[in-house]
Amino acid sequence: MFNIGPLEFHQPIALAPMEDVSDIAFRQICKERGADIVYTEFTNCEALSRNVQRSLDKIRITETERPVAIQLYGSNGESLEKAAAITETYAPDFIDINCGCWVKKVAGRGDGAGLLRDLDKFEMVVQSVMKGTKLPVTVKTRLGWDDDTIVIEDVARMLLDNGVEALTVHCRTRCQGYTGDADWSWLPKIKSAAPDLPLIANGDIVSPEDVKAIFDMGCDGAMIGRGAISNPWIFEQAHHFLDMGEHKTPPTHVERIELCIRHLKENVEKRGVQRGVTSFRKFYTHYLHELRDSKNVRVYLMQFTEVEPIEEALLEYIQRLNDYVPA
Ligand SMILES: Cc1cc2nc3c(=O)[nH]c(=O)nc-3n(C[C@H](O)[C@H](O)[C@H](O)COP(=O)(O)O)c2cc1C
Repeated sequence: MFNIGPLEFHQPIALAPMEDVSDIAFRQICKERGADIVYTEFTNCEALSRNVQRSLDKIRITETERPVAIQLYGSNGESLEKAAAITETYAPDFIDINCGCWVKKVAGRGDGAGLLRDLDKFEMVVQSVMKGTKLPVTVKTRLGWDDDTIVIEDVARMLLDNGVEALTVHCRTRCQGYTGDADWSWLPKIKSAAPDLPLIANGDIVSPEDVKAIFDMGCDGAMIGRGAISNPWIFEQAHHFLDMGEHKTPPTHVERIELCIRHLKENVEKRGVQRGVTSFRKFYTHYLHELRDSKNVRVYLMQFTEVEPIEEALLEYIQRLNDYVPA
């Protein structure tokens, strides 16, 4: 059991912040399927401090998705403080600071995982956000810059000393990007370095067994990113496995396809028809991948730029799968 501000958590399973994925629609979908905490995608504190509308749109949250964190990134103290104050007016349950983004345009200029190369600056970033808000503050980061400079234990102690309320660790280095495996063997070491700092594990958690392994290692929470894109049911499946010691029945093809249609419509509502339909194409693989003949269906759906023919094709697909009799 641990707290973030007034909220009490017991082995929460969180949806990871994911740019262009964890928007209100997807957060709500995962919440309904057992995600205990959801995060917005990261938002740049410079843009936010200048009230750029696109950034303000990113931090919009709804009551039904609580508990929800808004994630910020940056390394300019003044902007961070101002962005934190603006974020507070959107009333998230807490603010998470992204100190783990590995992409060059972020980490290369010292933001995100770039902070792992300068722990004084890392500390300044945390303190600046805290200066701007009374909300609880948490941090998400990686193990270190590269294999030779793993600093996560020092980071954990520094965060605890500064009053950060939880630490999420993607168990890779910045230089790894997404290569290799997440190295969970660091998790007990981080926990020993700062036993009073709630630790949320992240990286390559894709099954109920993985979630159980994370809790068996003494972590306080588990966070799932890519595993939730391909299976938004993972949260309830993992909870069921933890509670009952057995697997929950997987979603039927009807549930998968109906959720795909709903998600598409919500995406279109948010982004408009043209962008909504094209930006959704990446999700077909995830919703349909386990279904019979899905490759042909996915290819067929790519031609459409309106919702109606896609919905029609997906409803027909349900019918075809209903009617299928194995030879
Ligand atoms: C499409 C995508 C977008 C991401 N955007 C963010 C982000 O905005 N903030 C963040 O902290 N991490 C971001 N991440 C990293 C994830 O939160 C997570 O740390 C990483 O994917 C490892 O977890 P996983 O193996 O469960 O996917 C992103 C990952 C993906 C795949």
